[in-house]
Amino acid sequence: MQELDRIVADAEVAFAACATAPDLEQAKARFLGKAGALTELLKGLGKLPPEEKPRAGAAINEAKTRVEVLLAGRREALLAAELESRLAAESIDVTLPGRRQSAGGLHPITRAQAHIERLFASMGFSVADGPEIENDFYNFTALRMFPNHPSRSMQDTFYIAGSDKVLRTHTSPVQIRHMQSHTPPIRVICPGRVYRVDHDATHSPMFHQIEGLWVDEGISLADLKGTITQFCRAFFEREDIEIRFRPSYFPFVEPGVEIDMVWERKGDEVKFLEIGGAGVVHPDVLRNGKIDPERHSGFAFGMGLDRLAMLKYGVNDLRLFFENDLKFLRQFR
Ligand code: DAH
Repeated sequence: MQELDRIVADAEVAFAACATAPDLEQAKARFLGKAGALTELLKGLGKLPPEEKPRAGAAINEAKTRVEVLLAGRREALLAAELESRLAAESIDVTLPGRRQSAGGLHPITRAQAHIERLFASMGFSVADGPEIENDFYNFTALRMFPNHPSRSMQDTFYIAGSDKVLRTHTSPVQIRHMQSHTPPIRVICPGRVYRVDHDATHSPMFHQIEGLWVDEGISLADLKGTITQFCRAFFEREDIEIRFRPSYFPFVEPGVEIDMVWERKGDEVKFLEIGGAGVVHPDVLRNGKIDPERHSGFAFGMGLDRLAMLKYGVNDLRLFFENDLKFLRQFR
C-alpha cells in the first residue's frame, strides 16, 4: 500500500509540473491511461488470492480517486491561470477616447443645387429629371442638332458602341421629354450630370448643368431676363448684379443668347462672367415636344452648375469638386 501512496505523490508532482492543458493530459496517461501505473495494478488484482482481492481493489480504487481529484484540481488551476493571462492581455483602457461616428456633410455641388432649386421653386418652377444615358434623338436631333450639324462637334461625348445611346452632353434633352409629357403652362428646371470629352482646370468629363424651361402664352425674352436677374441676385446675395445678353447661336433657340453677369465694375472697366446659354425656344423644338408654336411660346436656358458653385464659394479649380479630398470638402460643412 506504500506503493499506492507513492503513485499518488508522483502524480501530484507530475501534475504540478504541467504548465499547459495538453501537458496535463499526457501526464494523466502515465497514471490513469491504458498502460498507466494504477491501471496496471488493477490488472494485477486477478493474480491475488481471493481473500485479499476486495481490500486491495478498494485501496487501488481509492488511490485512483485521489489521483482523479488531483487531476481535476490541476485542470481548474490551469484554466484559471489561462483566463487570468487573457484578461490581462485583453484588458481595455477605459480612459482612451472613443471612436465616434464622424458626421458627414453635403457636397458643395449638392448644396449649390439644393439652393438653386429652392430659389427657382420660389419663382414657381418645379424640378424635372431625365436619363443620363440618352438617345441620339433627345440629346441632339429633337434639339435640331441634326446628324451632320457642326454644333455636334462642340459637344463631343461618350458614345455607346453599337447603339444610338450617348451619355447626355447637356440637360437640354429634358426639355423635350418634359414637354412631351406635360401641357403648358410649363415651368421647370432640370439639374443634373452631363458628359463631354474635356479635361482641364475649368472642364471635367463629367459636370453639372441646370436647364430651365418656361412655356406659356406670350412668353418672351423679357421674361427670361427678369427670371435670370432675379435668380442671380438671390443666389449670390447681391442686389447690384446686372445681366447682359450677348447674341449667340444654339440650334434649339431663336434668337439665342449667351448670358453674362456683371461681376465687378472698376471705373469704366466692367468684368463680365458668362453663366450660360439661353434663348426663345425654336418652333420646331416646341413641335417635337408636342406643343403648338402658334399658341405657345417659351424660353429656355442652360447654366453650368459647377461654374455657379465655383463663383459662389470662390473655388478656382473645377477638378477640386470631383477629387473627393476631405481637406477640401470639409470646408463646406
Ligand atoms: N445646352 C447648351 C449647352 O450645353 C446650353 C443652352 C443654351 C441651353 C441655350 C439652353 C439654351 O436651354 O436655350 O451648351
